[in-house]
Amino acid sequence: MRDTVMSMTPAKVATQDSLLAARDLCFHAGGKRLIDKVSVVIPEGRRTLVMGANGAGKSLLLRLLHGLLSATSGQILWQGAAPDDRARRTQAMVFQRPVMLRRSVLANLNFALSVHGVRGAERAEQAARALDMAGLSDLARHPARVLSGGEQQRLALARALICQPRLLFLDEPTSSLDPASTQRIEDLINAAHGRGVTIVMITHDMGQARRMGDEVIFLHAGQVAESGPIDQVLGHPKSEAARAWTQGRLYTSSTF
Ligand SMILES: Nc1ncnc2c1ncn2[C@@H]1O[C@H](COP(=O)(O)OP(=O)(O)OP(=O)(O)O)[C@@H](O)[C@H]1O
Ligand SMILES: [Mg+2]
Repeated sequence: MRDTVMSMTPAKVATQDSLLAARDLCFHAGGKRLIDKVSVVIPEGRRTLVMGANGAGKSLLLRLLHGLLSATSGQILWQGAAPDDRARRTQAMVFQRPVMLRRSVLANLNFALSVHGVRGAERAEQAARALDMAGLSDLARHPARVLSGGEQQRLALARALICQPRLLFLDEPTSSLDPASTQRIEDLINAAHGRGVTIVMITHDMGQARRMGDEVIFLHAGQVAESGPIDQVLGHPKSEAARAWTQGRLYTSSTF
């Protein structure tokens, strides 16, 4: 794999200043091209939003970029080369519906730290700091699964951030939350971004996109309809798919 990438001099040059990039990424399942020749660049230190209609392929793209799914064809490049295990360990992901261990809030954080080799007093210290940051200190001994949706999402975010990832993927992290919980999650994401974490987030929420986005990748029917700075893609969309979206018109794969 590395040989293939190293021999691709033009691709390496084109993605040099990106943290992560995909080149002609395809994912086929059930006889369909669900992700179809997607090429994207995730610039380091920026907040890149992935937007598009239901079924456009946003979650699939994030799973492919994070290495949870294997592409049918195409390449993923981490700083210009194939991602190794070390590169993968510096990435974390928060899902739309948080997946919690059937243990306490604190045990969920301890487990994540243990997986990354943090133990003893250092682990206790880091877990306490994460609880405080997420506003969950009072709930530390509660079973994680009895937490409210907003609290669970804060725990999922704290757990993802606890090992100081360089890149954080978020799949609609606030889609089922009220405005106050959404604000707390956005504050946590922005604080992480302020510490230098690169953010890749799926959102359907135009207000959130304007508050949180630097760059946008707009997907339609498994392809990139357009991408670029948020002011350009949402302010002056070139593609019909993004234009319809920003105008609040219904626009489905069948009308494409
Ligand atoms: N493993 C799979 N096998 C077959 N089809 C799949 C598979 N995973 C996803 N799909 C299909 O691929 C399409 C894209 O799915 P994906 O979950 O990426 O959409 P999405 O853009 O995240 O949508 P939403 O906004 O509803 O979350 C959908 O039509 C989905 O049914
Ligand atoms: Mg999705």
